[in-house]
Amino acid sequence: MHLFHRIEVRLSLLMALVAITTSLLTVALNTFQRERTFRELPPEVRDFLRRNEERPPSLSLTPELRQMLAEGRAIRVQMRPSDNPDNPNPIFWITALDSPDARPVRLQAPPRLRRPSLEARLQQNLLIAGLAATGLGVLLALVFARRIARPIEAISDAASRLAQGDFAARIVTPRGEDEAARLARNFNRMAEALEQLEAERRAMIADIAHELRTPLTVMQGRLEAIQDGVMPLEMGEIDRLHHQAALLSRLVEDLRTLSLADAGRLNLTLQPMNLVELVGRMAATFRAALKARQVELELKLPGRAIPIQADPDRLAQVIGNLLSNALEHTPAGGKIALEVTSDTTQAYLRVQDSGPGIPAEALNKVFDRFYRAEASRSRATGGSGLGLSIVKTLVELHRGTVGAHNRPEGGAVFEVKFPLDQAD
Ligand SMILES: Nc1ncnc2c1ncn2[C@@H]1O[C@H](COP(=O)(O)OP(=O)(O)OP(=O)(O)O)[C@@H](O)[C@H]1O
Ligand SMILES: [Mg+2]
Repeated sequence: MHLFHRIEVRLSLLMALVAITTSLLTVALNTFQRERTFRELPPEVRDFLRRNEERPPSLSLTPELRQMLAEGRAIRVQMRPSDNPDNPNPIFWITALDSPDARPVRLQAPPRLRRPSLEARLQQNLLIAGLAATGLGVLLALVFARRIARPIEAISDAASRLAQGDFAARIVTPRGEDEAARLARNFNRMAEALEQLEAERRAMIADIAHELRTPLTVMQGRLEAIQDGVMPLEMGEIDRLHHQAALLSRLVEDLRTLSLADAGRLNLTLQPMNLVELVGRMAATFRAALKARQVELELKLPGRAIPIQADPDRLAQVIGNLLSNALEHTPAGGKIALEVTSDTTQAYLRVQDSGPGIPAEALNKVFDRFYRAEASRSRATGGSGLGLSIVKTLVELHRGTVGAHNRPEGGAVFEVKFPLDQAD
């Protein structure tokens, strides 16, 4: 990664910039304030201050000279220019006239001490403080940025592993409740959901392949037998082949319905309709099948209309799937009860049968795709375990719910609830 793209580098630079700008601003403000205060002073005070600054250097006499002067001795003074660049003040060589051979005394005013004024020192301190703040800011930025960047880097690594198909990629969640910890936890939750979806997708593909293979193998076997002359090509055989083909197309149609619903493209044409009337019609279409299986249908419909918003074809599919399941599981001589009721807000559709009921462990699985409580039995009847998942999907698209339970006296009950159409 480019150095400048690292969060700690950016944060440190930002901190340094802030600290330097703050220091410079403080110095500038301070200078400005000093000038203003100076200008506001009375003129005589200003003059005094200025004079004080320009005071000439003062000579301080050595004890030897002081004694010479006290004794009133005549002296000779020779002035020489200074050859010391640090002190340009002239040098005075002083000799007592009464002892010309004595060593001359050297006298030079000290260089003017450029004593920094109070303001200058203040400026200096401000600059030092500014530099210290910059250093400290950069240090803190590095420490904090590292703490922020570490979980982000971990998430980025895990996300790229996930993108490469490693669905087991997870992050060690940092302690605490801050944003980084929440981000890590949410990432792990997302990875878990993806892993589960991926597992479901694989299972689904395996199930679909398995379901398609059975009728296809049967058809292929029979067709080959006919081709080889082992089986005669007669009407009964064509009927059986047609039955397998019909099973296949129902399976494909069911899969299409579910995948459209998954993609959010199963568009229902909802319209106001009477649930009672539709259930009555569906019961009539099942009469022949019920009679053939010697199953009695008890129809409990109210004498009034129950208005709901529904797609009539899709709702017919829901009722049809529930009725064919009930019929499939009810032995000859048994009974199916089809009931419609309502209260102030909801419409209820109940399908009860007198079959063996649903095994307890299967009750919350029957709406799963490809789930069959007794695999062998349903396979024999051509069931692929998609009927109830389609029921659930369609009911939910109607903003309804569906549930299953067993009656104490035996048999399964499927109950669908729809919101009432309260337009009028
Ligand atoms: N009325 C019922 N009584 C007992 N078990 C039932 C009943 N209805 C459904 N089940 C159980 O729930 C399973 C799933 O039902 P579902 O309708 O989804 O699949 P299917 O009937 O096996 O196949 P498909 O409906 O796709 O042809 C069934 O295999 C069966 O074990
Ligand atoms: Mg079914």
